[in-house]
Amino acid sequence: MRLDVITIFPEYLAPLRLSLVGKAADRGLLDIRIHDLRAWTRDRHHTVDDTPYGGGPGMVMKPEPWGEALDEILADGPPTDGDGAETAARSDTGPVLVVPTPSGRPFTQEIAAELAERPHLVFAPARYEGIDRRVVEEYAERAEVRELSIGDYVLAGGEAPVLVMVEAVVRLLPGVLGNVESHRDDSFAAGSMAHLLEGPVYTKPPVWRGREVPEILLGGHHGNIARWRRDHALRRTAEHRPDLLRAAPPGSWDRPDLRLLAELGWEPDADGRFGPRPGGMEE
Ligand code: ADE
Repeated sequence: MRLDVITIFPEYLAPLRLSLVGKAADRGLLDIRIHDLRAWTRDRHHTVDDTPYGGGPGMVMKPEPWGEALDEILADGPPTDGDGAETAARSDTGPVLVVPTPSGRPFTQEIAAELAERPHLVFAPARYEGIDRRVVEEYAERAEVRELSIGDYVLAGGEAPVLVMVEAVVRLLPGVLGNVESHRDDSFAAGSMAHLLEGPVYTKPPVWRGREVPEILLGGHHGNIARWRRDHALRRTAEHRPDLLRAAPPGSWDRPDLRLLAELGWEPDADGRFGPRPGGMEE
């Protein structure tokens, strides 16, 4: 996978050289290139921003440096199937332009998995009030553009979101995690644990400061351990993310789940989805 990041703070992306992502790059699983947007400015001051049309606070990133940077980087990317710009924008092998913005669609595990399938991701983190809108319009014709938010809060720029998204994507690439099973049970991963947050985990020693590891985990009875984990995942999800339980399709639950949910004060509504019982124990 080829990853390009265009930023006015290249040093901000230094963590991509470390840890899991850095190792994946060292092993050749990933080609990461960090670019300074100012390299594509033509004035003496390397200006990347200007005042917003229509007035208002802050500055807007000028389209010209982004245009020149993206033209060059997209032209230099891995080859795409098909010919012609139209095809590349729609094909699964075409580049994806990721624009982090608090006004984007929420970045989720599902989107991370989709991005992990693509050969070329180009990240365009903005500072100030964002990038001139015409940039997104222009490149939507040549790439798949994804405007994505990492959460309902406003950061000073898109660089930290790029670090977040790249890590979420890269750990899904084949060969990056040591154990291929290790993301199977991730919170938010597809499968039988979808809709559930991961429960607590323990390691040695069996007693620490008088606190014991739950007996059942020491026993080696895989069925009981799986049930224990699922119960705790369910409890944690009900407490921290009731929205996930509500969104789970009817049929996500087995009999012991249903018993525990009832105990926690959840009951199915008319279409079989769960919601907290009025006067129940949620909140
Ligand atoms: N830029 C500033 N805040 C952001 C957020 N929450 N997600 C993505 N990009 C951002």
